[in-house]
Amino acid sequence: MTTYLESERLTLRPFAATDADLLIELDSDPAVMRYLTGGAPTPPEDIRDRAIPSILAGYERWNHDLGLFAAHEKDGGAFIGWFCLRPLRSGPREEAELGYRLRQAAWGRGYATEVSQALLAKGFAELGIRMVWAETMTVNRPSRNVMEKLGMMLAKSIPVPDDMMAVEGSEHGGVRYEITKEQWERRQA
Ligand SMILES: CC(C)(COP(=O)(O)OP(=O)(O)OC[C@H]1O[C@@H](n2cnc3c(N)ncnc32)[C@H](O)[C@@H]1OP(=O)(O)O)[C@@H](O)C(=O)NCCC(=O)NCCS
Repeated sequence: MTTYLESERLTLRPFAATDADLLIELDSDPAVMRYLTGGAPTPPEDIRDRAIPSILAGYERWNHDLGLFAAHEKDGGAFIGWFCLRPLRSGPREEAELGYRLRQAAWGRGYATEVSQALLAKGFAELGIRMVWAETMTVNRPSRNVMEKLGMMLAKSIPVPDDMMAVEGSEHGGVRYEITKEQWERRQA
């Protein structure tokens, strides 16, 4: 198994075409999908026909340096969800979005913060990234907590996409956090 990144307790690896069932199961938990779809699962055919091909195409596009990766516990190997660090498809390569989606069983253990810290370090110190951003719904406190613990700064409010207008809390809009390489370096000093 190729390892993309290791943190203290977790390993990230590229997804393979055979991993659809892991994502189908992850997206079938209404608690995981609460602030993404209002709780509805992602249809399995969307994962097989759209999500997986798009993830695999991203590895090629960014030369296996950036993308969306599967996270496993080092101790026992359990799949706990995914993390991404990736530019917009047609955006500048040095600006990347941080994202995460973890199985409920993995919440409350500091995993999201641990891996995100390692991703910021890899992005800024090794991959030529100059700015990382992350977006979530204003009411998604667990996700915002991760961003704040990473030292990301609230940059602006953003509108919630039309297809999320029915999601609980969407009337409060969304938020975008950012951290530059210089800000990250100052925190390391
Ligand atoms: C967003 C999400 C990844 C956050 O996960 P999380 O487990 O709450 O994230 P954290 O890494 O911050 O860990 C949370 C808590 O674990 C606790 N914890 C337990 N053991 C710990 C350890 N060894 N080290 C650090 N924290 C630990 C801490 O109390 C920490 O909270 P605190 O810093 O406020 O005290 C998770 O809620 C999720 O996957 N949600 C569904 C999908 C989603 O909404 N994604 C974001 C869309 S934008």
